[in-house]
Amino acid sequence: MTWWKTGSIYQIYPRSFQDSDGDGVGDLKGIEARLDHLVALGVDAIWISPIFVSPMHDFGYDVADYCDIDPRFGTLADFDALLAAAHARGLKLLLDFVPNHSSTDHPWFRESRSSRDNPKRDWYIWRDPAPDGGPPNNWISDFGGSAWEYDAATGQYYYHAFLKEQADLNWRNPDVRHAMMDVLRFWFDRGVDGFRIDVLWHMVKHADFPDNPANPAYRPEMGEMHAVLQSNSTDQPEVHDIAAEMRRIADGYPGDRVLIGEIYLPIEKLMHYYGIDTPEVHLPFNFQLIEAPWDARSLATMIADYEAALPPGGWPNWVLGNHDRPRIATRVGGPQARVAAMLLLTLRGTPTIYYGDELGLTDVAIPPDRVQDPRELREPGWGLGRDPVRTPMPWNASAHAGFSSAEPWLPLGPDWPTRNVAAQAADAGSMLALYRDLLSLRRKHAALAEGDFRLLETTGSVLAYERWRGDERIVVALNLSGEDQPFALPAGEVVLRTLPGGVRTDTLRGNEGVVILVR
Ligand code: GLC
Repeated sequence: MTWWKTGSIYQIYPRSFQDSDGDGVGDLKGIEARLDHLVALGVDAIWISPIFVSPMHDFGYDVADYCDIDPRFGTLADFDALLAAAHARGLKLLLDFVPNHSSTDHPWFRESRSSRDNPKRDWYIWRDPAPDGGPPNNWISDFGGSAWEYDAATGQYYYHAFLKEQADLNWRNPDVRHAMMDVLRFWFDRGVDGFRIDVLWHMVKHADFPDNPANPAYRPEMGEMHAVLQSNSTDQPEVHDIAAEMRRIADGYPGDRVLIGEIYLPIEKLMHYYGIDTPEVHLPFNFQLIEAPWDARSLATMIADYEAALPPGGWPNWVLGNHDRPRIATRVGGPQARVAAMLLLTLRGTPTIYYGDELGLTDVAIPPDRVQDPRELREPGWGLGRDPVRTPMPWNASAHAGFSSAEPWLPLGPDWPTRNVAAQAADAGSMLALYRDLLSLRRKHAALAEGDFRLLETTGSVLAYERWRGDERIVVALNLSGEDQPFALPAGEVVLRTLPGGVRTDTLRGNEGVVILVR
């Protein structure tokens, strides 16, 4: 089986992984210096959030040059060195492709906005004002407010699904499509192993720009974007042809390059991005572990429905956290986060680990004067900000946790003197040790890495399933609550458990998870 099926992926938020030049912001040389942590952890690939030239209004998700590295992160030479160093250690490297929108500092947008008859005018989405002079329709930015920005010089509005500094490209224009496909080739030619594709389902909008319908379930704490359903501004049928073209490009390169789509959609719609007649992305990100209620019955139903919905040949994948969502240890608590790790790394499919989750990092409270995220700055106070999950990686107990020689761009969590890589590497009972053990079990047992999957019938707060390949059978049993639960463990060898101490054969203790090699 190919590496992206059996392997696991580790997401690096580059501003917060390791700083090498003392500006308090992480960089490529820093990542290179820390690759051995990832080798010791036992992951197979790293995905690095955007490192391209950017004014950083959305911290790199606003790209001003798709084919160069932002000086804060380093140079193209630093990138080549990082890629070579990763490959020398057997690690694959994925970049973050941001095709839906560019920075308004991108030369394409500057040309586009310069006049109505500029050849690049149609590279972005320009519309006349509504009859009353207001925005062309009711579409709302994901960061709040109208998604349309008026440009007085040319008398039209441009569309931005995110910040007004992130103008949406017009993917219905064939020249845009060619230029952006060339970006993929540029990095594939340099040797990258694949891409995570940012907001893939946003890329094409309804050709007539009708209003979005009101969302009957809207509550203000959800964020203003949820006041409407994005049925006309996202997930249009034409996006599938674009995803298929990206796939053809990826498949044209040797060595199993992979495309992963960031897609937040209900499951039936999500499945379409595997491709129906023509292949699209290899892995449409499955965010259900982030979104589902954390209880055994809901998770069992969700897992069964996901497995059942997969198209023939579609390979599953699982995500517990990312740079946009609360950390798992904050959502479920520290002891239960160990159970969550066991779930992520023993389900059938490719797991993606968010940096720092292997230490059990929690969301870090950000003092108001240190808030960086535009999401928080635009709609303050609802807890929508993403800074708390983007704080620096704590490496050791030295100044600034070994992350930087300077004050980091975001504060470290208060527990960094003890919750850091060096301390946990020396502690067999740590979260880091559990992650290492789980990843090493996946490598050792084909039943876990590529085997079949079947949910076992359970009651109460127990979630249990079986994985098998050939003669090898493994049972995973997880107690999703803090209370003891009756569960008859099958006969066999307990190869891993989330709690210290003996395992009873008729009970799972609160927050206990076990992996059993069945005899
Ligand atoms: C994706 C990214 C998020 C970013 C947004 C706009 O959802 O994960 O961080 O703000 O796209 O590019």
